[in-house]
Amino acid sequence: MKGVQELLRSLRVWDPAVTELRPFEPDGAPGDPVELFARWFAEAVAAGQTEPHTMTLATADADGLPDARVVMLHGADAAGWSFATHADSRKGGQLAGRPYAALVFYWPVLGRQVRVRGPVDAAPAAEAMADLHARSTGALAAALTGRQSAELDSVEELTRASEAAWERASREPAAPAPTWTLYHLRPHEVEFFQGDAHRRHLRLAYHRTENGTDWHRRLLWP
Ligand SMILES: Cc1cc2nc3c(=O)[nH]c(=O)nc-3n(C[C@H](O)[C@H](O)[C@H](O)COP(=O)(O)O)c2cc1C
Repeated sequence: MKGVQELLRSLRVWDPAVTELRPFEPDGAPGDPVELFARWFAEAVAAGQTEPHTMTLATADADGLPDARVVMLHGADAAGWSFATHADSRKGGQLAGRPYAALVFYWPVLGRQVRVRGPVDAAPAAEAMADLHARSTGALAAALTGRQSAELDSVEELTRASEAAWERASREPAAPAPTWTLYHLRPHEVEFFQGDAHRRHLRLAYHRTENGTDWHRRLLWP
């Protein structure tokens, strides 16, 4: 088996055979970053990006130390960027202590990255349950399994709990999952990065203005 260094030397980003780096004109970008996100998301889907709705969610622990993991995007609109998880998970505890997070999307087929930062709040339980019950049986079973981030004694214990959760999710599609929580990240900053073959990558950063409703835009050096 090849070692990491050997493999790294053989790898490139943005192979023209699989990546289409599109021209990006920041001057023509919409005033609201949610609109540009919706456009780029639709383009990532149309370009065949695998799992474009997965994103890295970064939080900080009680000591201010960073932590990150991948979660699914549940929406991006006037309510902010939404995701769902267990309130009693590690990230749930971190968000309760410091309700602030960062998200990163990477869509390699278009050489695009989107970064989002801002405060996070938990939606009312009814909204979280409506969102969960509109999803798949597997999503409900996973939410019903619970105990996320707690120590697991054995794989058999997980299998038993998961089988029971699948059985309940199939029988009771509106079963409540008490700790499952929908969070909205209300962005203060959103940055769009378009990769360029000559490394003249374009970065367009949106910042909320003082009044909290409008957006200020500026370019950043790559
Ligand atoms: C593709 C993918 C999607 C995931 N989506 C979610 C999700 O939407 N919600 C969630 O709680 N965990 C999701 N996970 C699992 C998390 O990455 C993580 O393992 C889990 O939430 C525990 O994180 P924590 O210990 O920091 O709380 C996903 C993992 C992957 C690889």
